Amino acid sequence: MAMKLLLIGFGHVGQELAGIMILNKSEYPGLRNFDPVISQIISPTRGSISDPSHEDIRRIIGGHNPKQRTGYSDLADFKDFAVRKIRESNYDVLVELSPLSISENGDPAVTYVREALMRGKHVVTANKGPVAFAHEELHDLALKNGAKFLFESTVMDGAPVFNMTRETLKGCRIHQISGILNSTTTFILSSLEQGASFDEAVREAQGAGFTESDPANDIEGWDAAAKITVLANALLDARMTPFDVRRRGIRDITQDMVREALENKSHIRLVARARNESGRVTATVGPEKIPEHHHFSGIRGTGACLRIETDLMTPLMITQESPTLSDTAFGVIGDLLTISQFLKP
Ligand SMILES: NC(=O)c1ccc[n+]([C@@H]2O[C@H](COP(=O)([O-])OP(=O)(O)OC[C@H]3O[C@@H](n4cnc5c(N)ncnc54)[C@H](OP(=O)(O)O)[C@@H]3O)[C@@H](O)[C@H]2O)c1
Repeated sequence: MAMKLLLIGFGHVGQELAGIMILNKSEYPGLRNFDPVISQIISPTRGSISDPSHEDIRRIIGGHNPKQRTGYSDLADFKDFAVRKIRESNYDVLVELSPLSISENGDPAVTYVREALMRGKHVVTANKGPVAFAHEELHDLALKNGAKFLFESTVMDGAPVFNMTRETLKGCRIHQISGILNSTTTFILSSLEQGASFDEAVREAQGAGFTESDPANDIEGWDAAAKITVLANALLDARMTPFDVRRRGIRDITQDMVREALENKSHIRLVARARNESGRVTATVGPEKIPEHHHFSGIRGTGACLRIETDLMTPLMITQESPTLSDTAFGVIGDLLTISQFLKP
């Protein structure tokens, strides 16, 4: 049975996803039995596009004018429109791919996800907002309404973090997680090591497309704080938001500090940590000196790593080398494949 998808947001991730699972599916033998249909695409500049054909999708990805262009300049009006569509449209899974908003406490994505789950619709999101700001509420709503709420791509793209812990660490209690989760700061700190000034390193990161035009979310540690909150909420049963994370970014890191660390056979990296101590979860983000022999020091460029400590297993490391957009799209596809097992024929 075809799985009908309503996509909210059709930027980098949405377009890569549509490219893999609709336009070029035949190139991936593992997706042979996966039968998704995009029944609707919704975004502020496009309004709503219903039942896009392959040709429509190709045109959008190619940057041409979509068939229908409603266009909302006011995001509050667009949110009302999107909520109406989520409430009224015919679909099996809401695929939520809008941008993270820290200042709006994860909204409008939290609202979109809530509305879909209230109807008993499954939800997949790559947006950290819903899990970082409302995990407990949305998880409970999904359970109550018999729906799945999955978010593999929110941390380390498609690398199996939530799938792995859910499926293969059953019975283990996770008590600590730590990792290097933000690639922009790794890139900037590596450039400082190679002699660039902070401003030059930021410009280089922007030039390489690693960071948005305003890199503050990365440099001040907000992106890493959102990711460690997602992990803490989902894996440590914390009920926290990114505002609860003790956070220090890398803005004060100087070339001298980086050089001194190198002289001591260490690398400065932005490290995120969360731990559960007697039922109380705390989380931090900040620059740390990582000795060369430590596993974290091998992380380069856009790579990331996560260390998981449990009561039954010795620590596990998940390491990711140079992820691309295809990794993020794969995380969404993996979640959709999980949901396909639960769809009624
Ligand atoms: N890019 C990555 O590698 C990556 C990796 C992991 C997770 N993620 C997460 O995945 C999500 C999508 O990322 P992306 O790179 O595809 O972002 P993007 O290229 O900036 O695209 C965002 C999309 O969301 C739409 N949008 C903007 N404001 C909206 C609103 N208020 N309500 C609904 N839709 C809205 C935009 O609409 P218009 O097209 O009409 O402007 C656009 O289609 C983000 O939450 C991001 O953090 C991204």
